[in-house]
Amino acid sequence: MAHKPDVYATAGIYDATLPPYRFGKDLQQLIADEELLRQKVESVYGDPSQQLNVLEVGAGTGRMSQILLPYAHQLTVTDKFPGMLDVLRQKIPNANVVQTNTRDIADEIHPARQFDFVGAYWTLSYPIGEYLETIEDDKIIPIPDLAKGVALAKRMIDSLVEYVRPQDGMFHAYFFDSESPEQKVVTKIWEQLAPDPGGRRSFTREILASALGESAEARGYDFYETHHSGIAPFSSREEMISWFGICHAKGKRILTDTRLFMHETAELAEAHANSDGTVDLPVGMYEYTIKTKAK
Ligand SMILES: C[S@@+](CC[C@H](N)C(=O)[O-])C[C@H]1O[C@@H](n2cnc3c(N)ncnc32)[C@H](O)[C@@H]1O
Repeated sequence: MAHKPDVYATAGIYDATLPPYRFGKDLQQLIADEELLRQKVESVYGDPSQQLNVLEVGAGTGRMSQILLPYAHQLTVTDKFPGMLDVLRQKIPNANVVQTNTRDIADEIHPARQFDFVGAYWTLSYPIGEYLETIEDDKIIPIPDLAKGVALAKRMIDSLVEYVRPQDGMFHAYFFDSESPEQKVVTKIWEQLAPDPGGRRSFTREILASALGESAEARGYDFYETHHSGIAPFSSREEMISWFGICHAKGKRILTDTRLFMHETAELAEAHANSDGTVDLPVGMYEYTIKTKAK
């Protein structure tokens, strides 16, 4: 069956269809995830003065890289898909761009290299998931040995922490909240193909959180988990539903041309529609931070 191209494999689709996730405690003063990142780095490093050697994995089109750029005397970005990196190169011509699967990063960036800051935004679910199952067109094939997949995923996360300089270094990641109203519907859409690895959608995040906690503890680093609630605004119900098909169902018609998809997305849009027809979709995010030892 022919599918629309994967949202990450084709340049241009991702940025064009991205709704700004907005987070914060005060619903009247929500801020985009880029701004949240800017505030975070400013709170840690002060004014940007190209003071850091930065690595960002799964950087995609460079949305978050642009926030990190003023802090970087060297910015190394990685992603699996060349189309995403082509867009990034146009935005940040002086970035050191490395096309690699995060799982294979050590083949491209020597494990002994050290960075002041390692960032990973909305991306680690993918390489972790690849250790647990294989998505092939219309099929999801679970790996035969789940425990082995989990162990390999944790080793990959540890290798990212290993890149962080042991003094005054930072690892920082954003990861989706599978229990948000948005993601609960994403879970139902994908469960049309197969149950989630580990029996729950939060499994990949649990792997990340426990791997980071263990990696930090083994090295005597501080580890923090913070939850953020927010909304993704859409101009209409139709826009939200179309975005679900492209971004969350990755354009796979086996997922979107179903009664379940139509029913669940319509109900979600209706539940969060405003009187003017716009939709404020509730979203959630976990922020993970490791700080290495202070000098
Ligand atoms: C939701 S996008 C986030 C992009 C960017 N970090 C941002 O916040 O806009 C997920 C990114 O992960 C990349 N990706 C997916 N699987 C990957 C893998 N196994 N290794 C490296 N990158 C991967 C995709 O190409 C995409 O750029």
